[in-house]
Amino acid sequence: MKMMNIALPKGRLGDKAYGVLERAGYACPALREDSRQLTFVNEEAGVRYFLVKPADVAIYVERGAADIGIAGKDILLEYAPDVYELLDLNMGRCRMCVAGPKDFDDDHAHTLRVATKFPRIAARHFSARSREIELIHLNGSIELAPVVGLSDVIVDIVETGATLRENGLAVLEEIVPISARLIANKASFKFKREEIRALAERAQESLTAKEKAEVQGK
Ligand code: PRP
Repeated sequence: MKMMNIALPKGRLGDKAYGVLERAGYACPALREDSRQLTFVNEEAGVRYFLVKPADVAIYVERGAADIGIAGKDILLEYAPDVYELLDLNMGRCRMCVAGPKDFDDDHAHTLRVATKFPRIAARHFSARSREIELIHLNGSIELAPVVGLSDVIVDIVETGATLRENGLAVLEEIVPISARLIANKASFKFKREEIRALAERAQESLTAKEKAEVQGK
């Protein structure tokens, strides 16, 4: 059996995805312990997990440091990594949206200032509408930008809508629904085909109806 390297996103989504893999027969009990360790191996199950920042999963998989990984569709759309998307895990559900002040009225006489963590998704969205924009690339707390006048609108993930509501903002337009995907490195998919297909099948079987319906938490 060939060893599979799996890039797992740190955080709630990674915990949930690991829960699925654990039930699917790819457990690595040390992962449940609170530590600063970043790699975990289970020789018998043939898996080695890497804990990475959610936005970095696709890079590890594209470059082959990991054979497979769990990444949000937002990351796949933003970075367009050259990987295979094997399975929609139906978890981490949310929406990529344009949001802004509730009463926002877009004045086309001015360039629209758009704050976002997802510049490519935002650029594609507005370019398809021939709307000229100025991109303001931020790393977090995106909702703050229109509140303090740094931008007119934002392009960001909306899950429960609480962050928008609590900052007096609203969804202006939905761009695309998002959920977590199981992705694979293209070369690995050739050389470890059996192992990867078995994992994808078992993972699909171990998804419970509840997990499929669940929304992403933090
Ligand atoms: C994400 C996203 C929104 C928020 C949406 O931010 O960027 O700000 O969650 O969730 P909600 O609709 O349930 O309120 P995250 O918590 O990842 O933090 P960030 O500010 O560092 O991007």
